[in-house]
Amino acid sequence: MDVRIFQTPEETARALAARIAAALRDRPDQALGLPTGRSPVATYEELQRLHAQGQVDFSRARTFNLDEFAGVDATHPGSFRRFMDEHLFRGVNLEPTRIHFLDGTAPDLEVECDRFEAAIESAGGIDLQLLGIGANGHVGFNEPGDELTARTHRVQLHEATRRDNAALFGGEVGRVPREALSMGMGTSLKAAAIVLIATGERKAACVHGMVQGPLTTRLPASFLQTHRHVEVFLDRAAASRLT
Ligand code: GLP
Repeated sequence: MDVRIFQTPEETARALAARIAAALRDRPDQALGLPTGRSPVATYEELQRLHAQGQVDFSRARTFNLDEFAGVDATHPGSFRRFMDEHLFRGVNLEPTRIHFLDGTAPDLEVECDRFEAAIESAGGIDLQLLGIGANGHVGFNEPGDELTARTHRVQLHEATRRDNAALFGGEVGRVPREALSMGMGTSLKAAAIVLIATGERKAACVHGMVQGPLTTRLPASFLQTHRHVEVFLDRAAASRLT
């Protein structure tokens, strides 16, 4: 893994945004895989700023978001779709038809997962997959456990993950859905290149496991070690346990 360490979260976000902007300048029709969570927010803000300055063009890009809550529609304030509108989409020139999302309210969630996989395939696969990491080592909503699922699938969220996402649901853990749809670990690993961002002391242990620990389904992010082209963008606090 190519690990890059920056002094502050702001510097980390600027470096990652510059990396994404350069990829889009190089090949404007990139298929981007996108995460939610607090980690990429500053990167998304920087991309909006670069776009306003005419330094990044999303008009030919396509995006595939990693995950969505089950039973939550795109207009729900807690949905990841709304989160993306607020933090990235409304500030860049990306046509809605180029934005791909899992629909948590689809009548058959298994069919919805198959539809999403097919959409990624027909885009020729993901070129650049952005990732965050959950404090328990999850990627997307691929939670730690005895096994991992390769393809996009339906997941039961862990209590810790529901607590981490409570802010989207008025701070009430009880209102966070128990289920979600997530791009599979195998689907993410098929991306041509992966860039992951983690900042803050809270991520230091899982970052250490991801980069220097054994491959284990107990820390889904450790599987990124099997990919040829992963760049990890860290601030000093998130990198503090690396040796
Ligand atoms: C959610 C998302 C993940 C994200 C994680 C980390 O669970 N499904 O894709 O990586 O949160 O969130 P944060 O960046 O807020 O720590």
